[in-house]
Amino acid sequence: QELRGHVSIVLLGATGDLAKKYLWQGLFQLYLEEAGKGHNFSFHGTALTATEQGQEVVAKVLESLSCPKDVAPARCAELKDQFQRLSQYRQLKTTEDYAALSKDIEALVQREGLWEAGRIFYFSVPPFAYTDIARSINSSCRPGPGAWLRVVLEKPFGHNHLSAQQLATDLGSFFHEEEMYRVDHYLGKQAVAQILPFRDQNRKALDGLWNRHQVERVEIVMKETVDAEGRTSFYEEYGVIRDVLQNHLTEILTLVAMELPPDISSSEDVLRHKLQVFQALRGLRRGSAVLGQYQAYSEQVRRELDKPAGFLSLTPTFAGILVHLDNLRWEGVPFLLMSGKALDERMGYVRVLFKNRACCAQSEQHWVAEQSACLPRQIIFYIGHGALGSPAVLVSRNLFRPTLPGSWEEVGGPPGLHLFGRPLSDFYAYSPVREQDAYSVLISRIFHGRKDSFITTENLLASWAFWTPLLDSLAHEAPRLYPGGAENGHLLDFEFSGGQLSFSVQQPEQLVPGPGS
Ligand code: BG6
Repeated sequence: QELRGHVSIVLLGATGDLAKKYLWQGLFQLYLEEAGKGHNFSFHGTALTATEQGQEVVAKVLESLSCPKDVAPARCAELKDQFQRLSQYRQLKTTEDYAALSKDIEALVQREGLWEAGRIFYFSVPPFAYTDIARSINSSCRPGPGAWLRVVLEKPFGHNHLSAQQLATDLGSFFHEEEMYRVDHYLGKQAVAQILPFRDQNRKALDGLWNRHQVERVEIVMKETVDAEGRTSFYEEYGVIRDVLQNHLTEILTLVAMELPPDISSSEDVLRHKLQVFQALRGLRRGSAVLGQYQAYSEQVRRELDKPAGFLSLTPTFAGILVHLDNLRWEGVPFLLMSGKALDERMGYVRVLFKNRACCAQSEQHWVAEQSACLPRQIIFYIGHGALGSPAVLVSRNLFRPTLPGSWEEVGGPPGLHLFGRPLSDFYAYSPVREQDAYSVLISRIFHGRKDSFITTENLLASWAFWTPLLDSLAHEAPRLYPGGAENGHLLDFEFSGGQLSFSVQQPEQLVPGPGS
């Protein structure tokens, strides 16, 4: 078998939550996929945690790793054992520690009689630590000539345009643009990662549909049931727009709205076309946003951050934003972005709703379900959770029968299941044959150097340039309060009619005036 060289993966923050929950599993998944193809790996968990203590934590995590369902238990135990032998933990603090790690990697590669293909450094650490780590990697831990370096960075990437620019400049003094992989884990969600391939494989069918003449609106929604308890020190500074709209939902918007390059396997072309979407975004006005806050939030902040009794937070935990693009394809089509904490259900989706001239109705309530000409026509990228549970791509049967890759199969749902007001039988519905978590998907893409699944500096700054004026103008606005929590039995939803965006709760009497209103 051809030897493809050695890749070392250094996980910084290897004993932290993200690493324990997703990253070690993602690395194991990578090993399962690639080791059989002649790649050689070593995995270096590192943190500030003292060596012995860190080794204990990592050993526990490695023990808990799981194999895909189709791997027999005995084989799984064998693979885990192999992976464990390639993995180690060490404390990494000083520049000397980085130099020692580099020497050890070189020695390891030599001992195995291999050549070094590259090094990946996964920063699973708070951004305030980025600059020091970047400096140490750059000065003491770069691989030798001919081998590549990839550094993987986790959000937040700044707080507004200025701070994002500052962080980007700092990192740019240590790493080249092509070395940086900024993660947006929503880009690794299978339904999101399917948007471009779906558009590509169904080019012909979508040719006359994916435009302002045919699309009534696009909804990009991420509803969460969890609240911000335990995280208010982070959340107070960020709020829902910075936490998920500036990144996850905006990235999704670019995948829906971008012009499709002739070859979607070209990372450069995809990135260039994504950037063009930012250039076409119409500036947001104050009236483009509806903000809310779940009722218990201020109390949680007072408790966790030791605030005085009367303190009321102005941080939004819910936002609905109306976005328009000024280009030929999308002029006049509303893109609705919505996300919130402590809502009635956990669900994420992108829904492209097509116009229905036969019906001439603006609102779904006017559709007459029995008349097929009036049935809604929609394409949904169902990110997960909610009624369906797994990720899915749904296409109304009165639109066209889509083509999906072999790794997606046609599925039915439990009888009586309705989605977006229609029985599941109204749709061609596909789900991935093997469900994979977002981090496993992204770790594989980092290994393969697929930069289009990550956020470039240009893309990041363009997104902040779009969001920052709105964030500034909302800084002193009091959000409306909503009850929050599924146990209230309330249903928080957003409505769009007559060009206006609003949100409502099923029991409006529960709405109380927000702070300052
Ligand atoms: C993170 C946000 O980026 O995404 C969290 O910081 C949010 O506030 C999370 O809960 C949601 O991700 P997922 O994968 O659980 O839908």
